[in-house]
Amino acid sequence: MTIQSLHPQEAVIAVKGASLPFSDYADLPDAACQARIAAAKQTLGQRVVILGHHYQRDDVIQHADFTGDSLKLSRSAAASAAEYIVFCGVHFMAEVADILSRPDQTAILPDLAAGCSMADMANLAKVRRCWRELAEALDPDEAVTPVTYINSSADLKAFCGEHGGIVCTSSNAQKILQWAFDRREKVLFFPDQHLGRNTGYKMGIPLEDMVLWDFDQPLGGLTPDQIRRAKIILWKGLCSVHQMFNPQQIRRFREQTPDGLVIAHPECSFDVCQLSDYVGSTEYIIKTIADSPPGAHWLVGTELHLVSRLAERFKAENKTVRFMASTVCMCSTMARIDPPHLAWVLDNLAAGHVVNAIKVPPQEAELARVALNRMLDAS
Ligand code: 13P
Ligand code: SF4
Repeated sequence: MTIQSLHPQEAVIAVKGASLPFSDYADLPDAACQARIAAAKQTLGQRVVILGHHYQRDDVIQHADFTGDSLKLSRSAAASAAEYIVFCGVHFMAEVADILSRPDQTAILPDLAAGCSMADMANLAKVRRCWRELAEALDPDEAVTPVTYINSSADLKAFCGEHGGIVCTSSNAQKILQWAFDRREKVLFFPDQHLGRNTGYKMGIPLEDMVLWDFDQPLGGLTPDQIRRAKIILWKGLCSVHQMFNPQQIRRFREQTPDGLVIAHPECSFDVCQLSDYVGSTEYIIKTIADSPPGAHWLVGTELHLVSRLAERFKAENKTVRFMASTVCMCSTMARIDPPHLAWVLDNLAAGHVVNAIKVPPQEAELARVALNRMLDAS
């Protein structure tokens, strides 16, 4: 077996002979891709499990054995017995699958370019610098619990594992912040300011007790006194998709549809979440709309593929499901996982070749697992 490094964390593992090149799949007609995916899945049987995040395209998610939000899928990855976990989602999700699975299992991301722009807004060098600079105002290891949103790279999860911190997702953020405050008086929350602010406010923390850490400024653009007074220090990150939703879109919908209901993902801004009737993870959004009475009218602030699928699914119950923005805003990195990439990785597995394996370095994985297991135990 040879391992050829592509990226520090990723490798193409050639078992015998050369792997099938992606160029053979790039222009394959959709019907041929779908047929190959189905055939490869049949050949591999229980050896492979396909996990699909709710933002995936219809032509991909239809092949998933399990679908879910980030929390549900991390549990599916941890519980899976399959040799290969093919993650139809983004890079940090496949890293979590690798960290939580057994060493003899392999997590695979069909397109290595499927990243998350929010996760890229924090990196280890900047978080370490933040931790050092916080020491100008207080002792961070005594006073601050670092909490990373699961939408972050494995080395940031490892940082949290090492410093008494924890991981959260959009569906357990309140429980996790409570866990953090039970241990230390303050929280450093990265990379999504909105999830941190929306959750902190829901827990009764006033906005003035949450400060924004601008990672491009010395001391985050704050004074030592502002840091000492804050309950939550919010990293200045956001989701480029969810930032497209705004209060005017909600007001317009309420004028046109006075009995309509509004639901938003907590990555949306504070104002959007305050104006919404419901706020929660992708799994929560699906369940809330499914549980609503026939004929309900919904405005939804989350990714376009999911909203379009919900609109189609609930038509038969006379529910209308509208997308919050008037422009197309989809998660373009999630959409990189397409039928040609899925067919390519599965055909390779069926032929004995592992392509696009996601391997987190062992030491980093060990510390990240500490922070992830704290989350799984606390939620
Ligand atoms: P969920 O955990 O709610 O699925 O959110 C993941 C995500 O990336 C939302 O943008
Ligand atoms: Fe990342 Fe936003 Fe895409 Fe979610 S929707 S994966 S936060 S870029």
